[in-house]
Amino acid sequence: MSREKQQTLRSAEWFRGRAELGLQHRAVLRAMGIEAEHYQDRPVIGIANSWSELNNCNAGLREVAEAVKRGVLAAGGLPLEFPTISLGEELMKPSAMLYRNLMAMDVEEMLRSNPIDGVVLLCNCDKTTPAQLMAAASANLPTIQVAGGPRTSSYWRGEEIGSGTDLWRYWDQYRSGLLDRKDWDEFERCIGCSIGNCNVMGTASTMTGLSEALGMMLPGTSSIAATDALRLAVAEASGRRIVQLVTDDIRPRDIMTAEAFDNAVRVLIALGGSTNAIIHLIAIAGRLGIPLTLDRFDELSRSTPFITDVKPSGSHQMAAFHAAGGIPAVMKQIGHLLDHRCRTVAGSTIGEVIDAARCFDSNVIRPAAEALDGEGSVAILTGNLAPRGAVIKTSVASRELMVHKGRAVVFESYEDMLNRIDREDLDVRPDDVLVLRNAGPKGVPGMPEWGMIPIPAKLQRAGVTDMVRISDSRMSGTSYGTVVLHIAPEAAVGGPLALVQNGDVITINIPERTLELLVDESVLAKRRETWKPPVTPHLRGYPRLYIDHVLQADQGCDFDFLRPESEEALRFVHPTVGRS
Ligand code: FES
Repeated sequence: MSREKQQTLRSAEWFRGRAELGLQHRAVLRAMGIEAEHYQDRPVIGIANSWSELNNCNAGLREVAEAVKRGVLAAGGLPLEFPTISLGEELMKPSAMLYRNLMAMDVEEMLRSNPIDGVVLLCNCDKTTPAQLMAAASANLPTIQVAGGPRTSSYWRGEEIGSGTDLWRYWDQYRSGLLDRKDWDEFERCIGCSIGNCNVMGTASTMTGLSEALGMMLPGTSSIAATDALRLAVAEASGRRIVQLVTDDIRPRDIMTAEAFDNAVRVLIALGGSTNAIIHLIAIAGRLGIPLTLDRFDELSRSTPFITDVKPSGSHQMAAFHAAGGIPAVMKQIGHLLDHRCRTVAGSTIGEVIDAARCFDSNVIRPAAEALDGEGSVAILTGNLAPRGAVIKTSVASRELMVHKGRAVVFESYEDMLNRIDREDLDVRPDDVLVLRNAGPKGVPGMPEWGMIPIPAKLQRAGVTDMVRISDSRMSGTSYGTVVLHIAPEAAVGGPLALVQNGDVITINIPERTLELLVDESVLAKRRETWKPPVTPHLRGYPRLYIDHVLQADQGCDFDFLRPESEEALRFVHPTVGRS
């Protein structure tokens, strides 16, 4: 590292000087046996570790952190690991999404308040990746992200079973009596057979893949299996690389540009990835003052082929996706649509990544000319039911329901839905539209993944496998069906979804991008006069903060006070230690 660069290290503000503060700071490291030669004139690299025994998806990150440390040390930096909150999708209730912003604040404030020159972010399960990227965007210290990787494939009775996707499928069979208790117990023992994130293109693999597409992760690394030794080699390489990023002063805002977000949106569409990624990308861009809108997703989806044959939108799993070439292969197949000038943390451009990429299995990652759908994998709907937009993943929707009209069957809440959905006396027909409300960002709070409303058991027994379902909720990236999500504004703040009554007629037209409630405006105005917001029991602590400040889904569900209000706010750097 050059003398000039050494003088400008952020960490030196803590460790230099003879006054008591400098001594105190140096004594902290000496207390852990770290002598001055390890950090004076050397970059201090934070390793933000979301390892937790409450999160099986991130349970491999301890080993990954050790490998990162080896890389940092080899490149002449000092690695200092610190824990952060870890968001495990399965155990956290009502939803890990409730805590995404809390994790983003945790990581950002740890970076701001400590003597860190650059950071390696260790992520994996769904919300951990966007939370860290939101933090990185706001803190803007040199950053590289490393994923824990997908878990290995599970098998049951000779069939490869995908996390989530096949769980929902077999759950339907169990509910309708096609599987018995013994089958179900046997299935339970097979579904989760290793650490790592879900082994399909759920939210976790989508988001780590999009981190790569944004340029924030080493190319080709997000889909390496959690149990593959290559995962540790990548971690070590990332440790080496972050030291260089500090030396070259390359920061997240140099990488996550408006053009990089367009690239990421196109990769999301090509993947048939999770609808949750729409909310997360908007939130990350919002931290950078980049206005990424739902309209932009729709515009780019119409011109981006959906090419990835991986569950839940296709038939393969993440192991096959990685073997086929992973994210670089996807970018190569749609290379004519991407901005090749965007930078990556590897030092290369996206164009160079594409040049070096190969697709090894065109059944899994297809050429654009043989796309599964030439017009993308998501659509943004608007209309009097969703004035600010709603999302549908067309790659998992039924063709015959793309244009549909049906009676509304309304559920006031998730509990109401659970209590009534399988009752024999529920007035429901196969062509009805199932409506779930008060499940949005403020409604629960935290916008849980309740949007894939189960098909009523009596219809399922009659052979019905899909219905139009609409809500202000989200759905798991592993889910499927003709499911309209993220309706904004949500019912809990008085969005039109709050006014729907049983028997109202709803129309959905995906080619036309509309979602309409066929009820006269004067009738809706009368209903609005008597509408009352739902009462929420969460009145204190973090849920209170969340309800008071969370933005709607079309704005990424970030907190209003975490988005920069101006260019000046974007450039603001917190004061550090004072005298030295
Ligand atoms: Fe963690 Fe799916 S539950 S990645």
